[in-house]
Amino acid sequence: MIDYKYIKEKYNTPLFVYDINVLHERIKYLKSNFNKNFNFAYAVKANTFIIKETDSLVERFEICSQGEYEICEKLGISRNKMVISGVNKDNEFIEDLISKYDDVCKYTVESYTQYELLNELSEKYKRNINVLIRLTSGNQFGVSKECLLNIIKEHNNKYLNIDGIEFFAGTEKHSLAIIEKDINYINELVNEIENDLKFEIKEIEYGPGLPVFYFQSDSFDEDSYLNDLNKLIEKFGNKKITLEVGRSIAASCGSYLTSVVDIKDNKNGNFVILDGGINHLVYYGQMMAMKVPHFEVIPEKDKNKVVYNLCGSLCTTNDLLIKNIELNELSIGDTFIFKNTGAYSSTEGIALFLSRELPKVVLVKDNHDILVRNNNKTSVINCPNYEEE
Ligand SMILES: Cc1ncc(COP(=O)(O)O)c(C=O)c1O
Repeated sequence: MIDYKYIKEKYNTPLFVYDINVLHERIKYLKSNFNKNFNFAYAVKANTFIIKETDSLVERFEICSQGEYEICEKLGISRNKMVISGVNKDNEFIEDLISKYDDVCKYTVESYTQYELLNELSEKYKRNINVLIRLTSGNQFGVSKECLLNIIKEHNNKYLNIDGIEFFAGTEKHSLAIIEKDINYINELVNEIENDLKFEIKEIEYGPGLPVFYFQSDSFDEDSYLNDLNKLIEKFGNKKITLEVGRSIAASCGSYLTSVVDIKDNKNGNFVILDGGINHLVYYGQMMAMKVPHFEVIPEKDKNKVVYNLCGSLCTTNDLLIKNIELNELSIGDTFIFKNTGAYSSTEGIALFLSRELPKVVLVKDNHDILVRNNNKTSVINCPNYEEE
């Protein structure tokens, strides 16, 4: 258990805290619920601060930009665990990788243009590369079934190995019925490729969009959900299976600490101003601050009950964290600890708005805390530099 009082006094707020023991237990729990032959790829977009801490427990990292690659490289992640994925694969970046390294685990093909790029570069540098073709789930990502079949039919390059298919269902997939439909669709396609085109699909990298339930009103029997999902994924049969997971690995290890800096009743409501808000806090499924995420307040008090609207520090009426919540009467300096903020809050928040400082980031492992990012100024990023040229 993290001593939040100590952490708050040491680092001040706003602050992200990631509990590495919780992270490790979470990955072990997820793995224990799936067939032991399934591999896991951590989708680093969910939270780049915990990449290194997941390394010993996941088989791959799903990387969708040069920036994510640079972070992984700096952290010493082995290239043979990296899946270079995503739309807009920058030509120079990909050429640099293919020309220099023969140990990148996989590249994904998101479009016919990307296929041509990877084809051309693997031939140019006579570099063996392994690819997965991403089948679209009905959006801008991946290629159509027809395009995928055409690529396999016309494929004729000994340097580029098509190992299989990548498919991402979309995030927060609650419905196993929809997942079953997707899996049947992929299996039909695999049968067509293997029977009609006589081409072996060796592996499937599948992002199930494992859901996280963030709000106090939610109820979720995760054991039985995962058990049923595992049975569905086993329908892929005897192929190498890698599950791409971000949110469900990262969410539970994170807390976001933000303190009360002002309290006022301006006749339109009783408002609490916190030193951090929607620029750092992203709860998928939150609607107009109506839903109540899991949180606690320190120090604990036993005072009169008061109804508050909790707001952040941005100049927008959208910066509302919880509406009409009854709490023990608050004082300036009290700190909210918002739970389940390990996924996407540090990466998806609108952190540059209003040029406020970034929250510090602290990792806690076995009662040892380490500051891994300071409260960097965003004014440096938002300020034009007329000397730039
Ligand atoms: C291709 C791909 N794989 C995996 C993920 C991770 O999804 P989630 O965080 O829902 O597990 C994403 C998220 O956008 C993705 O785009």
